[in-house]
Amino acid sequence: MAVPDLAIETHGLRKTYRTVRGRTVGVESLDLAVPVGGVHGFLGPNGSGKTTTIRMLLGLVRPDSGTASVFGVEVPRHLPDVVARVGAIVESPKFFPAFSARRNLVLLADGIGAPRTRVDEVIEQVGLAGRSRDRYRTYSLGMKQRLAIAATLLKDPDLLIFDEPTNGLDPAGIHEIRETMRSLGDQGKTVLVSSHILAEVEQVADTVSIVTRGRLVASGRVADLLGEATGASVLVRVAPDDVGTAERVLVTAGHVVRSEDGALVVDGATDAAALNRLLGEQGVWASEIVVRRPDLEQVFLGLTQHDVPGGTSHRSERRLWGGGGRTARHGGPDGTAADAGTSDESTDEVRA
Ligand SMILES: Nc1ncnc2c1ncn2[C@@H]1O[C@H](COP(=O)(O)OP(=O)(O)OP(=O)(O)O)[C@@H](O)[C@H]1O
Ligand SMILES: [Mg+2]
Repeated sequence: MAVPDLAIETHGLRKTYRTVRGRTVGVESLDLAVPVGGVHGFLGPNGSGKTTTIRMLLGLVRPDSGTASVFGVEVPRHLPDVVARVGAIVESPKFFPAFSARRNLVLLADGIGAPRTRVDEVIEQVGLAGRSRDRYRTYSLGMKQRLAIAATLLKDPDLLIFDEPTNGLDPAGIHEIRETMRSLGDQGKTVLVSSHILAEVEQVADTVSIVTRGRLVASGRVADLLGEATGASVLVRVAPDDVGTAERVLVTAGHVVRSEDGALVVDGATDAAALNRLLGEQGVWASEIVVRRPDLEQVFLGLTQHDVPGGTSHRSERRLWGGGGRTARHGGPDGTAADAGTSDESTDEVRA
């Protein structure tokens, strides 16, 4: 059988929930493509369907329609064929508070038939070696979360799915989890990490999918998404006496220039060296010249800013994306995700 190049693939995945107020859309029509290897950020505002999607992939909730596959294996229909290759944390896992991390992991390893030798390996992998014999209840949130990741690694899965793994963690804890995910990605594992904390994902993810209202609005390599986003500019600072000359030189060369805090900002420019040369040729020397690119957060806000509850979602990606490259753009009719009422689904924590 050919080796699939996608770890996760979904087409038209849809899930609605029955609530007291009728049907609520969890995932509208989702097309997801997560490449094998590396860290993939699954980004979207609250209520955009990330957890619902992850639950569908893990067989915890049943899609209304659409298809999903993991390493080319159709799920949930053939989930048992692929489940051994998947580790996941959905919501907070449960451990015995009075037992050490080690003892908890030994119990789990025995339970899932993983060799006990794995326990020390995974403790090492998540950086808990120094504290592994302490009781779980003495752990910080970050350590608890790292133990949860360690548990998912026991059977050495190829795909790791983490739903908001840094929720509630302080910056040091976030950093620890990020390092752990990065190192897993570097080892060739596929890590799907959902988040609405953009800065965090930007630092760790190789590729991302951005969803809003249960639909994909953008996907691709982080670098490409940022590179394609309009809104880059170059900030040029010159001596106060030179500002007028500098502005004239730049405008004459066809640039759009505005002033900002005594500096000049050349909108839409990215070639700082060319601007520097242009100014230098006219005898104006920049004391500071820096390229400013939008970060993922700005890209994300641009794509989802109209996505307010009860409001109308616009296809704002048209404004943001240049098209081409390896980045995909996605559009379609608006979703109608609403807040949850009561549910017809139970949503237990699972370690697949
Ligand atoms: N069990 C449920 N019963 C009813 N509605 C639900 C249920 N789970 C999710 N929903 C609804 O489905 C939509 C998507 O929710 P989901 O939890 O998948 O979003 P999310 O992207 O994970 O959000 P968050 O960032 O807050 O975790 C929301 O409108 C939510 O209210
Ligand atoms: Mg969620």
